[in-house]
Amino acid sequence: LAPATLEFAITPNENARSAAEHADIIAEPGFGKHFTDHMVDICWSEWGGWHRPRVQPYGPISLDPAAAVLHYAQEIFEGLKAYRWADGSIWSFRPDANAARLQRSARRMALPELPTEYFIESLKQLIAVDGRWVPSAPETSLYIRPFMFAKEAFLGVRPAKKVNYYVIASPAGAYFHGGIEPLSIWLSTTYSRAGKGGTGAAKTGGNYASSLVAQQEAYDHGCAQVLFLDSEEGKYLEELGGMNIVLVKKDGTLVTPASDSILEGITRDSILQLAEDRGHRVERRRVSIEEWREGAANGDIVEAFACGTAAVVTPIGLIKAEDFEIGSADALPGELTMSLREELTGIQYGRVEDRHGWMLRL
Ligand code: PLP
Ligand code: COI
Repeated sequence: LAPATLEFAITPNENARSAAEHADIIAEPGFGKHFTDHMVDICWSEWGGWHRPRVQPYGPISLDPAAAVLHYAQEIFEGLKAYRWADGSIWSFRPDANAARLQRSARRMALPELPTEYFIESLKQLIAVDGRWVPSAPETSLYIRPFMFAKEAFLGVRPAKKVNYYVIASPAGAYFHGGIEPLSIWLSTTYSRAGKGGTGAAKTGGNYASSLVAQQEAYDHGCAQVLFLDSEEGKYLEELGGMNIVLVKKDGTLVTPASDSILEGITRDSILQLAEDRGHRVERRRVSIEEWREGAANGDIVEAFACGTAAVVTPIGLIKAEDFEIGSADALPGELTMSLREELTGIQYGRVEDRHGWMLRL
């Protein structure tokens, strides 16, 4: 049903920001606060497949109050960045992996799968009109947020027959206020993010909704993020509210949770690949909070970091739980953590050779 190629209709934004407004925003982008002048919109229906691809002025979406997403949360999204290289060109990092993950999320949430070519084309179309929004200062990028949701107005509980896919984008600096200062993380023992057979591995809004009270608890304890444990035994590390976690042992081994209720991060996968390329051992397995506690106390676990598109790689200084702590808030960033961060961002910004063919020009 879907056409082989997508011809996008383009409507320029007549109220696009002036050069002065644009310069103000780019000078201090923050994270997720400002959006570019356009957005992509592609419709899907059970009878017509993917159709009506458009680039249109960024602005409100009109929704029927009975739109299924507002009631049953049938929604998925992605997050990736566009980077400006020194020569002015604009590149994305492993967008095929984001396309594949959006398809996996779609299958779990009973949404239609957007073909990879359409996903990539949607990014190219947006950058073609909004390229000026990709900043060039160090550590800045354009955060791209593709998303899809059930638009059909129907209150029966079943997969929607009308769905829309959008892409919006937001110039971005560091996700955390402290930049790459070591994070303090709150260990949630009250709340779980996802459970067995649930939606934890899908990038769907509900997982983030369920993380918010725990995230608030983290803020209340002076922490920037929350760490979730497995929902069955409350023993094993899962992930943070919006990023994956990796521990580093004294002998250089990297350990990261294997679980089917966490999001398979593209940043984590890439970092672990870079570490393996350097000869480090990588263990993807269950890892308990007790193992971390003991390992940190006896010097066997020497670094920890958070990783994700928004966070890039951010060292973890302190884990704060109701009745114990691991590490300290004024810990120094780990050496391996920072060197892997340097290599990854080097590839993303075109300063380091892209051995794995991860970069795609937009
Ligand atoms: N885990 C969660 C819950 C996330 O929201 C993210 C961010 O997208 C990640 C992990 C890391 O995924 P990625 O590296 O693909 O951005
Ligand atoms: C991302 O890194 O893309 C996320 O979705 C995480 C969120 C904290 C912005």
